[in-house]
Amino acid sequence: PWSTERAAQVIQEHRHLDGAAMPILHALQETFGFVPEPAVPMIAETLNLSRAEVWGVVTFYHDFRREPAGRHVVKLCAAEACQSMGSTALAAYAEEKLGVAMGETSADGRVTLEPIYCLGLCACAPSAMVNGQLLGRLDTAAIDEIAHDIAR
Ligand code: FES
Repeated sequence: PWSTERAAQVIQEHRHLDGAAMPILHALQETFGFVPEPAVPMIAETLNLSRAEVWGVVTFYHDFRREPAGRHVVKLCAAEACQSMGSTALAAYAEEKLGVAMGETSADGRVTLEPIYCLGLCACAPSAMVNGQLLGRLDTAAIDEIAHDIAR
């Protein structure tokens, strides 16, 4: 669980760095698994930035999480090469099969489903990353398998 005290400590540890917003956000995510919303005004104040500027960084980089992730994280590639190989339909199938909407975490905290923009596996499109592991040539059978694997 995150705490204001710990967040303040992380911010202090990195405030002296060049372009400190990025390193601070990364450190917060590493510490808590996500960037707690109340940390944004704290960063803004410390670095003399506006809250909007800090939020801009958080939302621009897809890597920053705004809430804790589920126990399993399924990232489906939504970039061009994968799209041309049917990733959009596959994403809809995954939403149904995993019981969670794209960009969200299931209510039981079991799984987070999110888009990612190119995994460098375009030759094996459509591709995905499941709990840090790269998968290529996805089809509905592969999604079924993923759903089965993360049911535990
Ligand atoms: Fe999906 Fe490159 S576009 S891996």
